[in-house]
Amino acid sequence: MLLTGRDLCNVFLAGVFLLLPSCRFISGVESDINCLRSIKASLEDPLDMLTSSWDFSNPTEGFICNFQGIECWHPYESRVLNIKLADLGLKGQFPRGLVNCTSLTGLDLSSNSLSRSIPGDIHKLIPYVMSLDLSSNSFSGEIPNTISNCTFLNVLKLDNNKLTGQIPPELGRLSRLKVFSVANNQLSGPVPTFAAGADSYANNRRLCGGPLKNCPSSSQNKNDLVRVFKSYTVVMLGALGFGIGFVFSFSFFVFR
Ligand SMILES: *[C@@H]1O[C@H](CO)[C@@H](O)[C@H](O)[C@H]1NC(C)=O
Ligand SMILES: *[C@@H]1O[C@H](CO)[C@@H](O)[C@H](O)[C@H]1NC(C)=O
Repeated sequence: MLLTGRDLCNVFLAGVFLLLPSCRFISGVESDINCLRSIKASLEDPLDMLTSSWDFSNPTEGFICNFQGIECWHPYESRVLNIKLADLGLKGQFPRGLVNCTSLTGLDLSSNSLSRSIPGDIHKLIPYVMSLDLSSNSFSGEIPNTISNCTFLNVLKLDNNKLTGQIPPELGRLSRLKVFSVANNQLSGPVPTFAAGADSYANNRRLCGGPLKNCPSSSQNKNDLVRVFKSYTVVMLGALGFGIGFVFSFSFFVFR
């Protein structure tokens, strides 16, 4: 049978629709594959925990979803939902390759030996993450205030690290935050205004305020004193003016 023009057209369309999913596979999730590739390359893995499981040599649709610690949105689509790499002996810095896991909602790197500072542009690396657990590592430096721009966070665990400086007050903007812990660091200064129990802050160098003991605020006390003194002065001057006026008018009536 000869193919008519219309048949050819149908064959062409069928071809397009058969190819479309693989196009999507290539363009839509390639970045997630790059993301994991980059994470693996950037971390030291002395116990070979990722070496065996994270094998990129035989890519099939959804193959990364079987990697250790990887959860995908759908089992046959390489789009990463959660990364859970707790307690694998990993070393190195916070992996910047995460920027290419663009659908990530959960990141657990707890109980490893990661070090250096938490990146200042963390809100660009993991903008949609709802749960971030970096506890029990060796992260140092200050907590970047840009974490407050990860607006979906409802779990933020930074306890048991070597973080210093103050807790950024901007974290008070994280309106969905339910679990927050910075215990066992070297933090100082006032705790942010949002609610969290005292054990969230335990064992830091000089944290104060909130559920902890009050901050020693000498300048605050001085300001209060100045304010009291000023209002006292105003009242005194007012009373003095009133008294003088009274005496004057009184004498005006009496000695007229
Ligand atoms: C993210 O992916 C882009 C495009 O593939 C790549 O050029 C870039 O190096 C990746 N970023 C990181 C930090 O791996
Ligand atoms: C972070 O969020 C604040 C308040 O929503 C906004 O003003 C600021 O521009 C954001 N910063 C960045 C670097 O996105």
